Amino acid sequence: MDSIRPELFDFHGVSMSHYFTNNWENVQNFQARPDDIVIATYPKAGTTWVSYILDLLYFGQTAPERQTSIPIYERVPFLETFKSFAYLADKLPTSPRLIKTHFPIQFVPKSFWEQNCRIIYVARNAKDNVVSYYHFDRMNQAQPEPGDWNSFFHRFMEGKMVFGSWYDHVNGWWKKKQTYSNLHYMFFEDLLEDTGREIDKLCSFLGLSPSVEEKEIVAGKVQFDNIKKNSMVNYSTLSVMDYNISPFMRKGKVGDWRNHFTVAQNEEFDEDYKKKMKDHTLQFRTEI
Ligand code: A3P
Repeated sequence: MDSIRPELFDFHGVSMSHYFTNNWENVQNFQARPDDIVIATYPKAGTTWVSYILDLLYFGQTAPERQTSIPIYERVPFLETFKSFAYLADKLPTSPRLIKTHFPIQFVPKSFWEQNCRIIYVARNAKDNVVSYYHFDRMNQAQPEPGDWNSFFHRFMEGKMVFGSWYDHVNGWWKKKQTYSNLHYMFFEDLLEDTGREIDKLCSFLGLSPSVEEKEIVAGKVQFDNIKKNSMVNYSTLSVMDYNISPFMRKGKVGDWRNHFTVAQNEEFDEDYKKKMKDHTLQFRTEI
Protein backbone atom coordinates (compact mmCIF):
# COMPACT_ATOMS: atom_id res chain seq x y z
CA MET A 1 0.00 0.00 0.00
CA ASP A 2 2.86 2.36 0.82
CA SER A 3 3.74 2.85 -2.82
CA ILE A 4 0.60 4.88 -3.51
CA ARG A 5 1.49 7.55 -0.98
CA PRO A 6 2.04 10.68 -3.11
CA GLU A 7 4.74 13.35 -2.92
CA LEU A 8 3.94 16.90 -2.00
CA PHE A 9 4.81 19.49 -4.65
CA ASP A 10 4.34 23.18 -5.28
CA PHE A 11 1.37 23.87 -7.51
CA HIS A 12 0.72 27.56 -8.34
CA GLY A 13 2.23 28.44 -4.97
CA VAL A 14 0.24 25.88 -2.93
CA SER A 15 1.49 22.49 -1.67
CA MET A 16 -0.60 19.80 -3.31
CA SER A 17 -0.51 16.10 -4.18
CA HIS A 18 -1.23 14.84 -7.68
CA TYR A 19 -4.54 13.29 -6.62
CA PHE A 20 -6.03 16.79 -6.51
CA THR A 21 -4.32 18.38 -9.49
CA ASN A 22 -4.39 15.70 -12.20
CA ASN A 23 -7.82 16.77 -13.45
CA TRP A 24 -7.05 20.49 -13.21
CA GLU A 25 -8.29 21.65 -16.62
CA ASN A 26 -11.62 19.87 -16.32
CA VAL A 27 -12.10 21.06 -12.78
CA GLN A 28 -11.29 24.65 -13.67
CA ASN A 29 -13.77 24.49 -16.56
CA PHE A 30 -16.50 22.93 -14.43
CA GLN A 31 -19.92 24.35 -15.25
CA ALA A 32 -21.70 25.22 -12.04
CA ARG A 33 -25.46 25.58 -11.78
CA PRO A 34 -27.03 28.42 -9.83
CA ASP A 35 -28.51 26.03 -7.28
CA ASP A 36 -25.25 24.12 -6.65
CA ILE A 37 -24.20 24.22 -3.01
CA VAL A 38 -20.53 24.05 -2.16
CA ILE A 39 -19.04 22.91 1.13
CA ALA A 40 -15.53 24.29 1.37
CA THR A 41 -13.01 23.53 4.09
CA TYR A 42 -9.38 23.07 4.91
CA PRO A 43 -9.02 19.28 5.39
CA LYS A 44 -10.21 17.99 8.78
CA ALA A 45 -12.32 21.01 9.69
CA GLY A 46 -15.63 19.13 9.80
CA THR A 47 -16.33 18.67 6.08
CA THR A 48 -18.08 15.34 6.41
CA TRP A 49 -20.15 16.48 9.35
CA VAL A 50 -21.53 19.50 7.46
CA SER A 51 -21.91 17.49 4.25
CA TYR A 52 -24.08 15.03 6.11
CA ILE A 53 -26.16 17.80 7.69
CA LEU A 54 -26.83 19.29 4.26
CA ASP A 55 -27.64 15.96 2.71
CA LEU A 56 -30.16 15.27 5.47
CA LEU A 57 -31.69 18.73 5.21
CA TYR A 58 -32.19 18.42 1.47
CA PHE A 59 -32.86 14.74 0.98
CA GLY A 60 -33.52 13.19 4.40
CA GLN A 61 -37.28 13.28 3.83
CA THR A 62 -37.55 12.97 0.07
CA ALA A 63 -34.94 10.26 -0.53
CA PRO A 64 -34.34 8.46 2.78
CA GLU A 65 -32.86 5.43 0.98
CA ARG A 66 -29.79 7.56 0.15
CA GLN A 67 -28.83 7.44 3.80
CA THR A 68 -28.48 3.69 3.92
CA SER A 69 -27.26 2.89 0.42
CA ILE A 70 -24.93 5.65 -0.82
CA PRO A 71 -21.72 6.64 0.96
CA ILE A 72 -21.37 10.30 1.78
CA TYR A 73 -18.54 10.81 -0.72
CA GLU A 74 -20.97 9.93 -3.53
CA ARG A 75 -23.85 11.95 -2.11
CA VAL A 76 -21.50 14.92 -1.80
CA PRO A 77 -18.77 14.44 -4.44
CA PHE A 78 -15.31 15.90 -4.09
CA LEU A 79 -14.75 18.40 -6.90
CA GLU A 80 -11.00 17.97 -7.26
CA THR A 81 -10.61 14.18 -7.31
CA PHE A 82 -10.70 12.49 -10.67
CA LYS A 83 -13.28 9.80 -10.03
CA SER A 84 -15.57 11.94 -7.98
CA PHE A 85 -15.49 14.68 -10.60
CA ALA A 86 -16.66 12.34 -13.35
CA TYR A 87 -19.57 11.31 -11.19
CA LEU A 88 -20.39 14.89 -10.32
CA ALA A 89 -20.20 16.19 -13.87
CA ASP A 90 -22.10 13.34 -15.54
CA LYS A 91 -24.19 11.36 -13.14
CA LEU A 92 -25.17 13.19 -10.01
CA PRO A 93 -28.95 12.92 -10.08
CA THR A 94 -29.80 15.34 -7.31
CA SER A 95 -30.91 18.91 -7.38
CA PRO A 96 -29.39 20.80 -5.76
CA ARG A 97 -26.00 19.21 -6.21
CA LEU A 98 -23.98 19.25 -3.00
CA ILE A 99 -20.29 19.61 -3.81
CA LYS A 100 -17.27 19.33 -1.54
CA THR A 101 -13.96 21.11 -2.06
CA HIS A 102 -10.77 21.70 -0.08
CA PHE A 103 -9.47 24.28 -2.54
CA PRO A 104 -7.98 27.50 -1.26
CA ILE A 105 -10.05 30.43 -2.50
CA GLN A 106 -7.90 31.19 -5.56
CA PHE A 107 -8.38 27.66 -6.96
CA VAL A 108 -12.19 27.71 -6.99
CA PRO A 109 -13.47 27.36 -10.59
CA LYS A 110 -14.83 30.67 -11.82
CA SER A 111 -18.20 29.26 -12.79
CA PHE A 112 -19.20 29.04 -9.12
CA TRP A 113 -18.72 32.79 -8.78
CA GLU A 114 -20.44 33.54 -12.09
CA GLN A 115 -23.45 31.49 -11.04
CA ASN A 116 -23.46 33.13 -7.60
CA CYS A 117 -23.63 29.71 -5.93
CA ARG A 118 -24.20 29.35 -2.22
CA ILE A 119 -21.03 28.30 -0.44
CA ILE A 120 -20.59 27.12 3.12
CA TYR A 121 -17.09 27.41 4.55
CA VAL A 122 -16.22 25.56 7.76
CA ALA A 123 -13.16 26.60 9.74
CA ARG A 124 -11.60 24.78 12.69
CA ASN A 125 -9.06 26.14 15.16
CA ALA A 126 -5.50 25.56 13.96
CA LYS A 127 -4.34 23.41 16.87
CA ASP A 128 -7.07 20.79 16.68
CA ASN A 129 -6.93 20.99 12.90
CA VAL A 130 -3.25 20.05 12.75
CA VAL A 131 -3.74 17.17 15.22
CA SER A 132 -6.67 15.79 13.25
CA TYR A 133 -4.71 16.15 10.00
CA TYR A 134 -1.75 14.29 11.48
CA HIS A 135 -3.84 11.26 12.40
CA PHE A 136 -5.59 11.41 9.03
CA ASP A 137 -2.30 11.37 7.13
CA ARG A 138 -1.18 8.41 9.21
CA MET A 139 -4.21 6.34 8.30
CA ASN A 140 -4.88 7.51 4.75
CA GLN A 141 -2.49 5.86 2.31
CA ALA A 142 -3.46 8.38 -0.37
CA GLN A 143 -1.82 11.18 1.61
CA PRO A 144 1.92 11.92 1.79
CA GLU A 145 3.94 10.19 4.49
CA PRO A 146 3.28 12.23 7.65
CA GLY A 147 6.59 11.55 9.42
CA ASP A 148 6.67 11.95 13.19
CA TRP A 149 4.46 14.40 15.08
CA ASN A 150 7.15 17.02 15.58
CA SER A 151 8.04 17.21 11.90
CA PHE A 152 4.38 17.24 10.87
CA PHE A 153 3.73 20.05 13.34
CA HIS A 154 6.51 22.14 11.78
CA ARG A 155 5.41 21.40 8.24
CA PHE A 156 1.92 22.60 9.16
CA MET A 157 3.32 25.95 10.30
CA GLU A 158 5.25 26.18 7.03
CA GLY A 159 2.13 25.42 5.00
CA LYS A 160 3.66 22.23 3.60
CA MET A 161 0.45 20.23 3.74
CA VAL A 162 -1.85 18.98 0.99
CA PHE A 163 -4.03 22.05 0.16
CA GLY A 164 -1.34 24.34 1.49
CA SER A 165 -1.24 26.68 4.42
CA TRP A 166 -4.08 26.56 6.93
CA TYR A 167 -3.40 30.25 7.63
CA ASP A 168 -3.80 31.27 3.98
CA HIS A 169 -6.84 29.03 3.57
CA VAL A 170 -8.97 30.29 6.47
CA ASN A 171 -7.99 33.91 5.85
CA GLY A 172 -8.44 33.74 2.09
CA TRP A 173 -11.98 32.47 2.46
CA TRP A 174 -12.71 34.97 5.24
CA LYS A 175 -11.62 37.82 3.00
CA LYS A 176 -13.88 36.57 0.21
CA LYS A 177 -16.82 36.56 2.59
CA GLN A 178 -16.48 40.33 2.96
CA THR A 179 -17.46 40.86 -0.68
CA TYR A 180 -19.41 37.74 -1.66
CA SER A 181 -22.71 37.59 0.17
CA ASN A 182 -23.56 33.99 -0.74
CA LEU A 183 -20.83 32.68 1.55
CA HIS A 184 -21.74 31.35 4.99
CA TYR A 185 -18.62 31.11 7.17
CA MET A 186 -19.02 28.83 10.16
CA PHE A 187 -16.84 27.25 12.83
CA PHE A 188 -16.39 23.64 13.96
CA GLU A 189 -16.34 24.76 17.60
CA ASP A 190 -19.73 26.49 17.27
CA LEU A 191 -21.22 23.43 15.62
CA LEU A 192 -20.06 21.24 18.48
CA GLU A 193 -21.27 23.71 21.09
CA ASP A 194 -24.80 23.96 19.73
CA THR A 195 -25.59 21.89 16.66
CA GLY A 196 -29.25 22.97 16.62
CA ARG A 197 -28.36 26.67 16.56
CA GLU A 198 -25.91 26.15 13.70
CA ILE A 199 -28.46 24.10 11.75
CA ASP A 200 -30.88 27.01 12.17
CA LYS A 201 -28.29 29.39 10.76
CA LEU A 202 -27.63 27.04 7.85
CA CYS A 203 -31.36 26.79 7.11
CA SER A 204 -31.74 30.52 7.13
CA PHE A 205 -28.76 30.92 4.78
CA LEU A 206 -30.11 28.24 2.46
CA GLY A 207 -33.72 29.40 2.57
CA LEU A 208 -34.93 26.11 4.05
CA SER A 209 -37.67 25.82 6.63
CA PRO A 210 -37.82 22.28 8.02
CA SER A 211 -40.08 21.57 10.97
CA VAL A 212 -38.73 21.55 14.51
CA GLU A 213 -39.01 17.74 14.54
CA GLU A 214 -37.08 17.41 11.30
CA LYS A 215 -34.31 19.60 12.62
CA GLU A 216 -34.13 17.55 15.80
CA ILE A 217 -33.85 14.37 13.78
CA VAL A 218 -31.00 15.85 11.75
CA ALA A 219 -29.18 17.08 14.87
CA GLY A 220 -29.50 13.61 16.41
CA LYS A 221 -28.27 11.75 13.36
CA VAL A 222 -25.18 13.88 13.01
CA GLN A 223 -23.99 13.58 16.61
CA PHE A 224 -20.45 12.26 16.81
CA ASP A 225 -21.33 8.83 18.25
CA ASN A 226 -23.92 8.24 15.54
CA ILE A 227 -21.66 9.43 12.73
CA LYS A 228 -18.81 7.33 14.03
CA LYS A 229 -20.77 4.12 13.72
CA ASN A 230 -22.53 5.00 10.46
CA SER A 231 -20.67 3.14 7.71
CA MET A 232 -22.26 5.35 5.02
CA VAL A 233 -20.63 8.41 6.59
CA ASN A 234 -17.50 7.25 8.45
CA TYR A 235 -15.42 6.34 5.37
CA SER A 236 -14.93 2.76 6.54
CA THR A 237 -15.90 1.66 3.02
CA LEU A 238 -12.72 3.15 1.49
CA SER A 239 -9.81 0.73 1.44
CA VAL A 240 -7.07 3.39 1.33
CA MET A 241 -7.97 4.33 4.88
CA ASP A 242 -6.50 2.06 7.52
CA TYR A 243 -8.73 1.97 10.55
CA ASN A 244 -6.17 -0.10 12.43
CA ILE A 245 -4.01 3.01 12.49
CA SER A 246 -6.73 5.58 13.30
CA PRO A 247 -10.44 5.94 12.57
CA PHE A 248 -11.68 8.73 10.30
CA MET A 249 -14.14 9.80 13.00
CA ARG A 250 -11.45 9.89 15.63
CA LYS A 251 -12.31 11.97 18.71
CA GLY A 252 -14.70 14.70 17.62
CA LYS A 253 -13.61 17.13 20.32
CA VAL A 254 -12.38 20.64 20.85
CA GLY A 255 -9.03 20.83 22.67
CA ASP A 256 -7.53 17.44 21.82
CA TRP A 257 -4.40 19.37 20.82
CA ARG A 258 -3.55 19.47 24.53
CA ASN A 259 -2.83 15.75 24.36
CA HIS A 260 -0.33 16.28 21.54
CA PHE A 261 1.42 19.66 21.84
CA THR A 262 4.36 19.88 24.23
CA VAL A 263 4.69 23.11 26.23
CA ALA A 264 7.56 24.18 23.98
CA GLN A 265 5.60 23.38 20.82
CA ASN A 266 2.66 25.36 22.12
CA GLU A 267 4.78 28.44 22.76
CA GLU A 268 6.41 28.19 19.36
CA PHE A 269 3.03 27.74 17.71
CA ASP A 270 1.42 30.70 19.51
CA GLU A 271 4.22 33.03 18.62
CA ASP A 272 4.19 32.02 14.97
CA TYR A 273 0.37 32.16 14.91
CA LYS A 274 0.32 35.77 16.10
CA LYS A 275 2.65 36.78 13.30
CA LYS A 276 0.74 34.95 10.61
CA MET A 277 -2.69 36.17 11.75
CA LYS A 278 -1.86 39.75 12.71
CA ASP A 279 -2.90 41.39 9.45
CA HIS A 280 -6.22 39.57 9.31
CA THR A 281 -9.59 40.29 10.91
CA LEU A 282 -10.57 36.64 11.33
CA GLN A 283 -10.81 35.61 14.98
CA PHE A 284 -11.07 32.14 16.48
CA ARG A 285 -12.16 31.52 20.05
CA THR A 286 -9.35 32.07 22.49
CA GLU A 287 -10.34 29.54 25.17
CA ILE A 288 -9.70 26.44 23.05
P1 A3P B 1 -10.92 14.47 14.85
O1 A3P B 1 -9.82 13.82 14.06
O2 A3P B 1 -10.38 15.60 15.70
O3 A3P B 1 -11.73 13.51 15.63
P2 A3P B 1 -13.30 16.18 7.90
O4 A3P B 1 -14.64 15.59 7.65
O5 A3P B 1 -13.16 17.60 7.42
O6 A3P B 1 -12.20 15.29 7.41
O7 A3P B 1 -13.13 16.32 9.47
C1 A3P B 1 -12.96 15.20 10.30
C2 A3P B 1 -12.94 15.66 11.73
O8 A3P B 1 -14.28 16.07 12.11
C3 A3P B 1 -12.54 14.54 12.70
O9 A3P B 1 -11.89 15.19 13.81
C4 A3P B 1 -13.91 14.00 13.08
O10 A3P B 1 -13.93 13.21 14.23
C5 A3P B 1 -14.67 15.31 13.24
N1 A3P B 1 -16.13 15.13 13.27
C6 A3P B 1 -16.92 14.61 12.31
N2 A3P B 1 -18.20 14.57 12.72
C7 A3P B 1 -18.22 15.09 13.97
C8 A3P B 1 -19.25 15.31 14.93
N3 A3P B 1 -20.51 14.99 14.70
N4 A3P B 1 -18.90 15.88 16.11
C9 A3P B 1 -17.62 16.22 16.35
N5 A3P B 1 -16.61 16.02 15.48
C10 A3P B 1 -16.90 15.46 14.31
